[in-house]
Amino acid sequence: MRVSSTNLSIHAFADTDDFGRKLARLVHAPFSLIARRTFPDGESLVRVIGKPSRGAVLVRSLHDPNAKFVELMLAADALRRAGTRKITLVAPYLGYMRQDTVFQPGEPISQRVIGEWLGHTFDRVLTLEAHLHRTKALADVFPGCQAVSIPSAPILAAWLGKGKTSTLLVGPDEESEPWVRSIGRLSGLSWVVGRKKRQGDTQVRIDLPHGIEAKRAVIIDDIASSGGTIATTARALRKLGVRWIDVAVVHAIFAPRALYRIRQAGVRHVVSCNTIPHPTNAISCIPLFAEKL
Ligand code: R5P
Repeated sequence: MRVSSTNLSIHAFADTDDFGRKLARLVHAPFSLIARRTFPDGESLVRVIGKPSRGAVLVRSLHDPNAKFVELMLAADALRRAGTRKITLVAPYLGYMRQDTVFQPGEPISQRVIGEWLGHTFDRVLTLEAHLHRTKALADVFPGCQAVSIPSAPILAAWLGKGKTSTLLVGPDEESEPWVRSIGRLSGLSWVVGRKKRQGDTQVRIDLPHGIEAKRAVIIDDIASSGGTIATTARALRKLGVRWIDVAVVHAIFAPRALYRIRQAGVRHVVSCNTIPHPTNAISCIPLFAEKL
């Protein structure tokens, strides 16, 4: 592991405390929490504790993001006032990336709005496996800011392990194809992707390719939110005779009842990367961020 310069300090909000502390240990940088409190009128106040370095890293995972964005802006201002010159936002999960086009007349392109907002506040943004489908690169989302979406395929492939040739990797939709292909290449496993049609916030239709003969499958998805995509994919696999179905996701949003829905569909084990604190976290992405710092 590369050792960072002493010009780096790591600052995290309490909801990303564990991630921030481990990251600080890996890069041998001082760590401190950003203190926050809410006034009776609902406004937030944040405070940087201690003296930040010239290069500060602010760590916060951006699931359930609305209030977090305002506090990030406040924390960035506080860091600069305390002497920081360059701020890197480490957002292990970066919200608002899915609305990357106007799906229905009258909607915004949320990805662009949030990207411009954060891009003007931070010098660098690092995340894991940003949901980029119609946008080519994360740099296109953050104008004037160095932005990197770290690929998750190597850590997922390592978790899958080599030599389990009887296991089939299954991506639920065409959008997952480049990513699932790359996990397949790294792990040596065969893979397929389905076709997905979204019918509502929690309802999807999944069509899988014909000719699946595997008895064991691992469904791979970047985000599990309502759990609808994974549960529907699992049911489709079971109809095709697949008996053992596990799931590996990058970002474990898991809205209420999502895991229940997934288990009801016959899934055995669910694992996730630790971008969002969740009981399914089993794959650490912190070393990947440490390397980038
Ligand atoms: C969509 O394109 C993503 O890759 C995920 O499949 C989707 O966000 C999962 O959402 P849900 O769990 O609500 O079906």
